[in-house]
Amino acid sequence: MPSSAVHILVLAGGESTRIRTGSPKALLDLCGRPLLDWVLAAAETVPAASRTLVLGGRHRRAIEDWLASSDRQGWTIAIQEEARGTADAVRAAFPGLPEQGRLLVLCGDTPLLQGDTLAFLAEQEAGALLTAEVDDPTGYGRILRRSDGSLAGIVEEADCDEEQAAIREVNAGVYLLDLAVLRRVVAGLTADNAQGEFYLTDAAVAVLEETGGVVVTLDDPAEMQGVNTLADLAEASALLRGAILGRHLAAGVIIDDPGSAYIEDGVEIGPGSRILPFCVIRRGVRIGAGCTVGPFAHLRPGTVLADGAEVGNFVETKNAELGPGAKSKHLTYLGDVSVGAGANVGCGTITANYDGRAKHRTVIGERAFIGSGTVLVAPVRVGDGATTGAGAVVLRGRDVPAGAVVAGVPARLLARPQPESPADA
Ligand code: UD1
Ligand code: CA
Repeated sequence: MPSSAVHILVLAGGESTRIRTGSPKALLDLCGRPLLDWVLAAAETVPAASRTLVLGGRHRRAIEDWLASSDRQGWTIAIQEEARGTADAVRAAFPGLPEQGRLLVLCGDTPLLQGDTLAFLAEQEAGALLTAEVDDPTGYGRILRRSDGSLAGIVEEADCDEEQAAIREVNAGVYLLDLAVLRRVVAGLTADNAQGEFYLTDAAVAVLEETGGVVVTLDDPAEMQGVNTLADLAEASALLRGAILGRHLAAGVIIDDPGSAYIEDGVEIGPGSRILPFCVIRRGVRIGAGCTVGPFAHLRPGTVLADGAEVGNFVETKNAELGPGAKSKHLTYLGDVSVGAGANVGCGTITANYDGRAKHRTVIGERAFIGSGTVLVAPVRVGDGATTGAGAVVLRGRDVPAGAVVAGVPARLLARPQPESPADA
């Protein structure tokens, strides 16, 4: 028998009250990406999922805006007008779903779930529930099993008696359910529980009972870490950063103090590069081989360091490309700039890239020597092998010719390019 189609629904319609920031939980940043982005990216690895929906509630506008600007593909948004529980959320999504097939339901607040776990669940023809054995079950629904091991129910923490509260097998909040049966079961559900909500857990147990679905238990319980509070977010972030650092260490990156290296997801670092303590390296940054970064460096998006480049203490970079062996070692802002191979950017240099209306670029040539405390007012170019004196302010458009020396405020030509390098003249 050919397997039935799998559709995916990600629930992000909650009020986010426990977060207390007033902003939607699904869009909180986790290592450079919104929580929801992690969940949708994992879900996108499920082969041939046919309909993919995100359920939004009070915060749906923000979610829609983010979706439109993100890399995520093929997601449509369904709306739950009022957050009345996870089963009500699924009911709100029914109009956007086919009558038949299997529905993989995920929560938008479990960002560490892996794509291959979801793909495995999606293969279960009769339906499935994902659980984990955790040391501390606080906050999760507890799994009740019969003496033969079969699934008897899921009881939310607020509804647990003392004995149930001690159960360490918990609900990950991921279900694969027969859609036709789910529609029927949800229609008959009541909100007869401590929170007065319609629980998807109750519906899931009934559907799996009817279709004979399986319980899948995670090997690594960290995968199901849910984010209900900012403390949970910090915990998820620590787990994820540990995994990110582990991958860089395994690839030959020297990280002197993993406890203080803040490296987001999606950073490339070449072998033999060294990350000194207290660095922040944002998503999308690319660092070549044999580079040195930090201590106390902040590399923002758009930073590209070629092999052997060095960025030192209290240097901030953004949209900055440093060529091979280029150095900027102290107290500097490099924004919207390209720095040529072997150039030296002195202590306290500032690329003044913003004129109050728009950002402009600075180009620093190969082997150029930028004196301490230079301000480069963009757009401006400093030619190959040129020098700026300490404290020079190079005004916008007042390009420094290759090999020339400028100094002063505003910077003036002190020495012309050397005649023996005609290419620079
Ligand atoms: C839920 C499960 C719990 C499980 C845990 C796993 C229920 C009743 N409980 O609890 O068994 O251990 O997830 O992390 O399902 N949402 C809506 N609309 C609503 C309510 C919630 O879309 O009306 C969304 C939320 O935005 C969230 C997800 O559903 O993404 C889960 O809701 P949440 O309130 O966080 O449930 P938990 O208490 O964590
Ligand atoms: Ca949750």
